[in-house]
Amino acid sequence: MQTFEVSISRCLAALTLLSLSLVNAHSIITYPGYRGNNLHTNGTVQQTNGLGVAWENGSYVYPYGMQWIYPCGGMPTSTNRTKWPVNGGAIALQPGWFQGHSTAFMYINLGIGTIPENMSLPMVSVFEITGPSNNPYPGTICLPQVPLPADMTVKAGDNATIQIVEVAKHGAALYDCVDITFAEDDEVAEVTKDNCFNSSDIGFKYVFASTSLTATSAASHGSNSPVMVSVLLAAALGAWIL
Ligand SMILES: *[C@@H]1O[C@H](CO)[C@@H](O)[C@H](O)[C@H]1NC(C)=O
Ligand SMILES: *[C@@H]1O[C@H](CO)[C@@H](O)[C@H](O)[C@H]1NC(C)=O
Ligand SMILES: *[C@@H]1O[C@H](CO)[C@@H](O)[C@H](O)[C@H]1NC(C)=O
Ligand SMILES: *[C@@H]1O[C@H](CO)[C@@H](O)[C@H](O)[C@H]1NC(C)=O
Ligand SMILES: *[C@@H]1O[C@H](CO)[C@@H](O)[C@H](O)[C@H]1NC(C)=O
Ligand SMILES: *[C@@H]1O[C@H](CO)[C@@H](O)[C@H](O)[C@H]1NC(C)=O
Repeated sequence: MQTFEVSISRCLAALTLLSLSLVNAHSIITYPGYRGNNLHTNGTVQQTNGLGVAWENGSYVYPYGMQWIYPCGGMPTSTNRTKWPVNGGAIALQPGWFQGHSTAFMYINLGIGTIPENMSLPMVSVFEITGPSNNPYPGTICLPQVPLPADMTVKAGDNATIQIVEVAKHGAALYDCVDITFAEDDEVAEVTKDNCFNSSDIGFKYVFASTSLTATSAASHGSNSPVMVSVLLAAALGAWIL
């Protein structure tokens, strides 16, 4: 009975992966690249007694999927680094590889160094996407000119890691990273309409910054405004990710 359930869930996971792989060969961050395919789900929550990751029979199992693990979805630092412009550049990704993303908050952060101590430097303000459904969906979004974090300069040859955090509808976060080496523009893979585009069925929404609110307005609107609640939620998630 248990093995039967396991094989059904494996089968569903495989189908999900298959449908996504048809879209873009297991890519998650489609430009400039990613650490590797971490769309893996195996084992059961019974086997791990509810843990997100556990050591079973000589290997790790991820019953909820690797991607939920901070900071880079279960993937260690890679050695096949991608070149990315010293003045910032494009980032394209597929936000719909798991279910739960009919809406999602997106964060793009930088970690400095070959093995970054943290991923605590935001490159863009948090933004929200709206997807076509709450089930896994294909489609890509692309920001053609993501800048470096404020007040930061780098030189060609410096290493860093770009982290994408996607906060699902229910509040849990998926992680994916790409290890980069900064380079001059002419050394970087060209950005084209084929590798950097917005699919028409994925929308964008601006999430306004919590710093624009004063304590007084928070107090007077706090308990009954859905907008306020979502802003506070975004602020809380932001603090947690730091
Ligand atoms: C690095 O190697 C992994 C494993 O072969 C591959 O999946 C990934 O796409 C590569 N990343 C880059 C940026 O080349
Ligand atoms: C580990 O081995 C046990 C005993 O053979 C088996 O019941 C269990 O399903 C295995 N776990 C995984 C994740 O394969
Ligand atoms: C579970 O998946 C991970 C990631 O692909 C893999 O490293 C591990 O060997 C798998 N574990 C088992 C028991 O199949
Ligand atoms: C960048 O990382 C590569 C390994 O991926 C390493 O060989 C190189 O020395 C690093 N560069 C710097 C400036 O630390
Ligand atoms: C993050 O790491 C950088 C060095 O890469 C360090 O300067 C900064 O203080 C760290 N930030 C936090 C919040 O730990
Ligand atoms: C995708 O949409 C976002 C939000 O409107 C926009 O900033 C970005 O430039 C668009 N990307 C492309 C490739 O047009």
